[in-house]
Amino acid sequence: MLVTMKDVLLDAEKRQIAVGSFNAPNFQTLHAILRAAEALSEPVILMHAQVHEEMGLCTMEEITPVLLRAAEKAKVPVCVHLDHGTDLDYVKRGLRLGFTSVMYDGSALTPEENTKNTLIAVEEAKKTGASVEAEIGSMGAREGGVQDDESIYTDPELARTFVKDTGIDALACAFGTVHGFYLREPKLDMPRLSRIRELTGIPLVMHGGSGVSHADYREVIRRGVRKINYYTYMSRAGAAAISGKEYKQFQDALFDAENAMMEDVKTAMSVFTGK
Ligand code: 13P
Repeated sequence: MLVTMKDVLLDAEKRQIAVGSFNAPNFQTLHAILRAAEALSEPVILMHAQVHEEMGLCTMEEITPVLLRAAEKAKVPVCVHLDHGTDLDYVKRGLRLGFTSVMYDGSALTPEENTKNTLIAVEEAKKTGASVEAEIGSMGAREGGVQDDESIYTDPELARTFVKDTGIDALACAFGTVHGFYLREPKLDMPRLSRIRELTGIPLVMHGGSGVSHADYREVIRRGVRKINYYTYMSRAGAAAISGKEYKQFQDALFDAENAMMEDVKTAMSVFTGK
């Protein structure tokens, strides 16, 4: 069943859990994510990231109809979300394609410019009924964000003003996670997270979910994270499953990778949902 991010976050808030949010740039990741969500009977968020188009994995026009159709047919509630839309035209195109949720990422801009553009994204999303996530502070929009650089962490006071001025549904905040592989064990600024939640009162989003310990997942959820973005470790699990093996048919490698990714997503979602 296709739903919005607001729908799944309301449920997450009620149950004090986090919804798993996974990038799905091809059929194998898509199948792995949906199989895991259906096995656990849990809502899930499928994401297309603008950066995956730039990397040549898939275009938004190619992947969105596939994600939407899969969401409609799924046995669990599924939101189809645009991840890190860094320019407004891309976000507007995404809304026309039918995303039920978009992230406008103006984190590289000044707070004033970020607010101005996020407001435009919110107005555009209202026309289609989609939900909106935005970010203040920066965990590095792309792979390779700098770990432990507290100067780019979300300022709780700025977050309060940003949320009040934009009316977004969820806030991505920076408090020690980065995208991709961690160079060393992440050290999360938990008091900052609690303060952001206290001052904004809305569902918080943790990006860079791969590589965070299970204990930290539980702790951030306790402090108000309701959506956890996760991709790198799922992809790594797929790669590990086929590495060093010989296959006669390409599809056999795909099936092995899909099964390994499904197990990885299932483990992550079990922790996010307390199952
Ligand atoms: P990881 O790839 O580090 O899990 O992060 C995914 C993400 O945050 C996508 O927005």
